[in-house]
Amino acid sequence: MSSTAATLDFKGKANEFKVRQGTVGPEVIDISSLYKDTGAFTYDPGFTSTASCESKITYIDGDEGVLLHRGYPIEQLAENGDFLETCYLLLYGELPTKAQKEDFDDRVTRHTMVHEQLSRFFTGFRRDAHPMAVMCGVVGALSAFYHDSTDISDPHHRMVASIRLIAKMPTIAAMAYKYHIGQPFIYPKNELSFAANFLHMCFAVPCEDYKVNPVLARAMERIFILHADHEQNASTSTVRLAGSSGANPFACIAAGIACLWGPAHGGANEAALNMLAEIGSVDRIPEYIAKAKDKNDPFRLMGFGHRVYKNYDPRAKIMQKTTHEVLGELGIKDDPLLDVAMELEKIALTDEYFIEKKLYPNIDFYSGITLKALGFPTTMFTVLFAVARTVGWVAQWKEMIEDPSQRIGRPRQLYTGHASRDYVPIAKR
Ligand code: SDX
Repeated sequence: MSSTAATLDFKGKANEFKVRQGTVGPEVIDISSLYKDTGAFTYDPGFTSTASCESKITYIDGDEGVLLHRGYPIEQLAENGDFLETCYLLLYGELPTKAQKEDFDDRVTRHTMVHEQLSRFFTGFRRDAHPMAVMCGVVGALSAFYHDSTDISDPHHRMVASIRLIAKMPTIAAMAYKYHIGQPFIYPKNELSFAANFLHMCFAVPCEDYKVNPVLARAMERIFILHADHEQNASTSTVRLAGSSGANPFACIAAGIACLWGPAHGGANEAALNMLAEIGSVDRIPEYIAKAKDKNDPFRLMGFGHRVYKNYDPRAKIMQKTTHEVLGELGIKDDPLLDVAMELEKIALTDEYFIEKKLYPNIDFYSGITLKALGFPTTMFTVLFAVARTVGWVAQWKEMIEDPSQRIGRPRQLYTGHASRDYVPIAKR
């Protein structure tokens, strides 16, 4: 039975706090009045026990390995729909009717081009720059272009900015890739689906016809759906925090991209594939398992473990299936990286250390193998994650701005530095 209040005994006084119950999930003790009532803060580094906001978008049950968007299981969305349908669902809260879907597809498709001036930004970067560095800069630069969609108090502006970001992100990502490999930019082709258009912009060249393989386009679509949103992960929380000050929406998304880049977050797909390549062969796996378990060794198995999932990441299961579909379509029978991945997964799932710590493969474990087979270099993996996650970022940003209780995010701290002391002139130090 759920309680409605929690009592905290502090300095001889009993303080009562409201207990809130979400639709599903654990109860939440509302401590927003704690400082006013007691003069004390809470301390929770890494937010392991802190709900930073109220949200209706995505729900994860980490113990059961469940992921729902607006109530719909990720397996059903990935199996039956396309990416733009998931985008509509995340943004509007309901699955679209046929007419709504057509209208939405049309609105996104008509925003796929970027201002021609934006293409000049790319030439300012070294060709060997990491594409995520380019993404941080170029997406941030969008703030300087689309002034007719930056009044965040206007719902129409908010939606136009959201649609522009979803539509332009694949174009910018493909441009980052083309710049990286020294090929000319390929303009979007609006008759293609979201995923097929992205493959076209990445892999077509002006001197030849490029036909998108429908099986690979479907796999790309699924990869985008699987990465679309994941409640209050690090990059989404970054976007919310940046947006809480009323900042320009394009700049907020650039902040999310910067956060996603890290190897503990979106950068793990690149790190996981590099790790599989470094292990190289099945017989070297025990050596790496031992390194991962060694507290004095900083090595961790990339693509394993998750803050919320203490069970199989449901996205990893679908991704594993997608990997096999892509390898089958491309006729790749003996991929040494896949052999290492499958054996590593098997060993880790039966190893006492990983069982005890509930470390299961996450989405990043399999996505790298699939993206490599699709023809992307490892440096592009996190960029593709950013393309997909943009809808999650904008949906969560919009929800925050539209929440009447929204205030600037401003955490407090447990200060352990010097107390007040007097300045010492340099000659006397
Ligand atoms: C994503 O949150 C999201 O929603 C993110 C994401 C999304 O969709 O946005 O799902 C995408 O970022 C997936 C995660 C990708 N990262 C990796 O695959 C990197 C490898 N994994 C980790 O470093 C780690 O598991 C995290 C960062 C994912 C989670 O970190 P936590 O919750 O802070 O847990 P922790 O690091 O404190 O680990 C708990 C214990 C530790 O051991 P003890 O100190 O308790 O003895 O588990 C161990 C860790 O050393 N551990 C691992 C391990 N991950 C955790 N040991 C070996 N290999 C690992 N991968």
